Amino acid sequence: MENFDRKILVTGGAGFIGSHVVRRFLTNYPNYLIVNADKLTYAGNLANLSDVEHLPNYRFEKIDIVDAEAVKGVFNKYGITDVIHLAAESHVDRSIEGPMEFVMTNVVGTVNLLHTAKDAWKGEAHVFHHVSTDEVYGSLGDTGLFTEATPYDPRSPYSASKASSDHFVMAFYHTYHLPVKMSNCSNNYGSHHFPEKLIPLMIHNIQNKKPLPIYGKGDNIRDWLWVVDHASAIDAIFHKGRIGESYNVGGLNEWTNIELVKFLCKVMDEKLGRTTGESESLITYVTDRAGHDKRYAIDASKLEKELGWKPSITFEEGLSKTVDWYLSNHEWVEKVTSGSYQEYYETMYGNR
Ligand code: NAD
Ligand code: DAU
Repeated sequence: MENFDRKILVTGGAGFIGSHVVRRFLTNYPNYLIVNADKLTYAGNLANLSDVEHLPNYRFEKIDIVDAEAVKGVFNKYGITDVIHLAAESHVDRSIEGPMEFVMTNVVGTVNLLHTAKDAWKGEAHVFHHVSTDEVYGSLGDTGLFTEATPYDPRSPYSASKASSDHFVMAFYHTYHLPVKMSNCSNNYGSHHFPEKLIPLMIHNIQNKKPLPIYGKGDNIRDWLWVVDHASAIDAIFHKGRIGESYNVGGLNEWTNIELVKFLCKVMDEKLGRTTGESESLITYVTDRAGHDKRYAIDASKLEKELGWKPSITFEEGLSKTVDWYLSNHEWVEKVTSGSYQEYYETMYGNR
């Protein structure tokens, strides 16, 4: 193996956030080998990396992290020195329909990776960075923010599986002294986001003049962060964060779903040359998500104070860039919304 300073296994590198992390590390650190290990589920797409896959420090391995032998094989093949773990089943609605896949990938897959790293690594010159979510903290009322000290209270099968994986990560730190770091981030948005999640689904439906399905009253609140800023937070934590610590990542950018979708309609009416209010008329209130968490909001002050991280752009700028990306990447959108996406959409929204 060539003489790279670090040989980093990025799991889930073909997904939404993973592809942004891979892109950042490949281009900022040409002295690191980046091995993207991804099963290529419906959410994994190598086209997300078409602009960087030619770089000499990039490798791809199609593996399932649940397969312990395959994980070990990749560690041995490259002499992996570090892990940034993003592979997961990530969509709450799918976890409500079928939790078992979430247990397998998010819990068993994570434990496989931890085990393999523990057996392969000696000493502390390694990092196992586990990428997690603010959903592990449960749901907030009208006030307050999630801090790193907020007790875990997961409420969906997805968040329960992520909370479980977080506990295993910390258990491997305390029991085996595995050099772990963890980050818990709020809702991301940006390019290459699979159109099952709120923002890319609404962009797609607005463009195609389809109904815009708002769950319940639309008064649930999320704290949105541009995915490129999440990748920069992961970079900061991976390099400068303290071993055994978790860091909250968020945008201090709370929106009710309905206000966000109305704002998106306005932005897209302008970009598409439509009359004001045309897209808003597509809004349709539909049956609420079971166990729908009311509000998420992150206190990211530990990350800001300790590591000097800050979001780089405003939500208005990020959303405008995101819409522009979707409007100018028809081929990508076409590819991910054909075939099984149509079945998914019908099952999820047909009788809602
Ligand atoms: P995503 O669904 O877009 O991508 C997940 C990736 O993991 C895909 O490329 C998929 O092929 C791969 N994958 C799934 N199962 C696998 C398996 N068994 N083996 C190998 N690869 C597998 O997810 P995302 O939104 O990019 O989220 C990435 C990570 O960040 C997840 O761990 C998620 O919990 C966390 N996170 C996401 C958000 C968000 O807003 N999207 C916010 C905070 C944290
Ligand atoms: O908070 C971080 C989490 O954010 C991540 O851990 C998850 O991986 C990611 O999927 C995201 O979870 P959410 O459930 O918050 O995201 P989603 O985009 O599915 O939904 C955002 C809000 O919009 C939520 O309140 C439900 C609502 N919604 C969603 C969809 C898909 C609608 O009203 N209509 C929809 O069609």
